[in-house]
Amino acid sequence: MGFLLGIDIGTSGTKAVLYDESGVPRAKKTVEYPLSQPQNGWAEQNPDDWWRAAVEGIKFVLETSGVPSAGVAGIGLSGQMHGLVMLDKDGKVLRPSIIWCDQRTAKECEQINRALGAENVIAITANPPMTGFTASKILWVRNNEPEVYEKCAHILLPKDYIRYRLTGEFATEVSDASGMQLMDISRRTWSATVLEKLCIDKALLPSMHESPDITGRVQASAAKETGLAKGTLVVGGAGDNAAAAVGTGVVREGRAFTTIGSSAVVYAVSDNVRIDGKGRVHGLCASVPGKWTVMSCTQGAGLSLKWLRDTVCVPEIGQADRHGVNPYDVMGEMAERIPIGAERLIFLPYLMGERSPHPDPNCRGVFFGLSAMHQRAHLIRAVMEGVAFSQGECVEVFRETGVPVSDMVITGGGGRSALWRQMLADIYNCPVNTLSSEESGTLGAAMLAGVGAGIFSGVEQAADAIVKKENTVLPNGDAAAAYMPYYRLYQKLYRALKAGFDELAVI
Ligand code: XUL
Repeated sequence: MGFLLGIDIGTSGTKAVLYDESGVPRAKKTVEYPLSQPQNGWAEQNPDDWWRAAVEGIKFVLETSGVPSAGVAGIGLSGQMHGLVMLDKDGKVLRPSIIWCDQRTAKECEQINRALGAENVIAITANPPMTGFTASKILWVRNNEPEVYEKCAHILLPKDYIRYRLTGEFATEVSDASGMQLMDISRRTWSATVLEKLCIDKALLPSMHESPDITGRVQASAAKETGLAKGTLVVGGAGDNAAAAVGTGVVREGRAFTTIGSSAVVYAVSDNVRIDGKGRVHGLCASVPGKWTVMSCTQGAGLSLKWLRDTVCVPEIGQADRHGVNPYDVMGEMAERIPIGAERLIFLPYLMGERSPHPDPNCRGVFFGLSAMHQRAHLIRAVMEGVAFSQGECVEVFRETGVPVSDMVITGGGGRSALWRQMLADIYNCPVNTLSSEESGTLGAAMLAGVGAGIFSGVEQAADAIVKKENTVLPNGDAAAAYMPYYRLYQKLYRALKAGFDELAVI
């Protein structure tokens, strides 16, 4: 039997999981590292911390599983998207990586619009200029640290830096590279127009591959450090969400997943490139060759509930402690006793500004309709509903762009809440499924490695063989109708408050 290694370079840590061919994890290890925020809105990490964490994780899973290194048939990488890694001509890291959630590049986004024309940016890269995406980060370094840019010989994404350390190759793949804003998304290649207009030399960029392609083999130095066998193949892998799509079986048109972590992502697959002309959701290449995806990101999803837990639900934390249970379970039970609409209380989850479907760094959270009769339980229910409404709005945009969503999987911490699952089924008006496997990113990456190693004949076949549904929640027609007036009002509120958000931001 061949074993497959999935490595996910996350924001809080790197996770290595060794799977057998049927997708059963044999050993796993997460190694954490810090995030540095040198200024308000900045977010950086040290690429060598990622490498140290990957080495520790790989060594651990090889040692504890007892699987000989020669038994590892392939390695798949996944990771946080959009982060900028710059290396000099000797492959040395030039500055900390400016990662996905860094917001310093508003001016560079305007620069991109001026250089290319706003319509062209969307038509070619399938997204409006984004502070989170890599292109604006590259321009920021050129504008603000010209001495660093001068020395830069290679630009990589986070997981592609780990590939470089493992194999010595400068390579990426379409799903993650889509989030750099330097690609022609329809053609699945670097865009000559974008590179020319932004004056970025193509020689700085890695070679482009499809996700299951073999991009290199473990080199002697990395074999020595990690315990892997020299020559073990490393496939393209995928950005974290595109890898999770494979691990959750979201590999055919009609299928989608929602993940509620700190942020919430909805990700759907399409047979054709889909571009929302208004830039409300992202268009990206899928990790399935020849397919594309639309993806939304609500910045403050689980984060909103965590904020409520830590600031308002202190008694619930105490109660949970006394009973040895999770405070979110206590909060969920309280919310369940409150009727749909939280007795006329609506929450807008913009605690961290918003990305989808309102790309707007200025908007902020709102409780609308707050009354003296509302208790903590109402606030909890309203926050959960507000997050679910935001996902509903995004799915509505998906459907508008022509992407059918008829089969939804839910993962992430929020997916463990039965109440949130039912809300999403009712608001999406489609069945919501949970899966038997708890992993999605590392599993998807390992499955892509299985395709590269010839264990599976394709990504769809890998998903058919590995991904098993566990539970299905069906939409409840009465509940869906009860949510509707609140949902419609929720949608009106952003537009009604937009000018106020902008004013607040400059006071
Ligand atoms: C996707 C995004 C995040 C990061 C971090 O666009 O910004 O999901 O990939 O996980």
